[in-house]
Amino acid sequence: MLSALCRRSKAVWGYDNDFMKACHSELTIEPCELRSSSIAVAEENGSILGVAQIKVIGSEADLLKLFVEPTMLRCGVGMKLFHWATSEATAMGADRMVIEADPDAAPFYRRMGAKDCGLAPSGSIPGRALPKLVKELRSI
Ligand SMILES: CC(C)(COP(=O)(O)OP(=O)(O)OC[C@H]1O[C@@H](n2cnc3c(N)ncnc32)[C@H](O)[C@@H]1OP(=O)(O)O)[C@@H](O)C(=O)NCCC(=O)NCCS
Repeated sequence: MLSALCRRSKAVWGYDNDFMKACHSELTIEPCELRSSSIAVAEENGSILGVAQIKVIGSEADLLKLFVEPTMLRCGVGMKLFHWATSEATAMGADRMVIEADPDAAPFYRRMGAKDCGLAPSGSIPGRALPKLVKELRSI
């Protein structure tokens, strides 16, 4: 169900079938990831509204997934999941959270206080570069 939500959510940006197929693996949550990473699900009245996933290694957290159900965009779900991700990462000892964003989602992350720090190669599409952003988790 969570993988299907990720795919529905990613498709809101209008990608074609070939692109969505190429991203299939990156848009999948395997059962073993419930142990190897931290995952939060947003739900209301038994309906799943979104999912977020982070992985912390040392002082750095990676935001691996943040996907909101298409019918629930711009209702505050993404912000709640982002706040969960930063709180969880901080609690696990991270100083910063790195985000390799979909280009259309980058303005959302900037609104959440993340700063641009270059480009990262897409894990799914050779030659495609994604905006890389960093959210500092500890105030100086
Ligand atoms: C990016 C995403 C997670 C944002 O979630 P959301 O629930 O729609 O965002 P929220 O309603 O919590 O928005 C929080 C703030 O960000 C702003 N915002 C949200 N999406 C935005 C966008 N695409 N561009 C600019 N601002 C955006 C909102 O206006 C709101 O601002 P406000 O506090 O001034 O009102 C959601 O659009 C999504 O799931 N997109 C498809 C999948 C995807 O690309 N995920 C990211 C993978 S890196």
